Amino acid sequence: MTTRRIVLSSDHAAIPLRQSIAAHLAAKGWQVQDIGPTTTESTHYPKHGQAAAQIVAAGQADLGIIVCGTGQGIMMAANKVKGIRCGVCSDTFSARMIRQHNNANMLALGARVVAEGLALDIVDAFTSAEFEGGRHADRVAMITAIEG
Ligand code: RB5
Repeated sequence: MTTRRIVLSSDHAAIPLRQSIAAHLAAKGWQVQDIGPTTTESTHYPKHGQAAAQIVAAGQADLGIIVCGTGQGIMMAANKVKGIRCGVCSDTFSARMIRQHNNANMLALGARVVAEGLALDIVDAFTSAEFEGGRHADRVAMITAIEG
């Protein structure tokens, strides 16, 4: 595996899970950039999804993981950033497949949906899988073409 830099962000609903993911990935040798937030004060998931997505899109991180209550809102925000392919996953199969087939560069998780143990398994499935290319590359290129 060559990808080793990962950026994490969340909203207020997901700080403990995000911090747990950060520690988990750091222990596995990932260079983790955790961009917060650090307080549980109510905040707005779009800006945190956008901030992490911009770091990935700029090539300053190889992958990104973003977390909110459901994972849905922060995923929607991240996918508005050009070059981002982010999926919400609540199972390990999907987390592996969005890397292998969709070349997803970001994963979104719902802290109110998945318990910590499953979330870390999902993170492992996502971060250990690689894009398979081949016929999938044409389809991913079609997604990119939609961006204009
Ligand atoms: C915050 O209450 C909640 O709306 C947010 O974390 C997320 O679930 C939105 O998609």
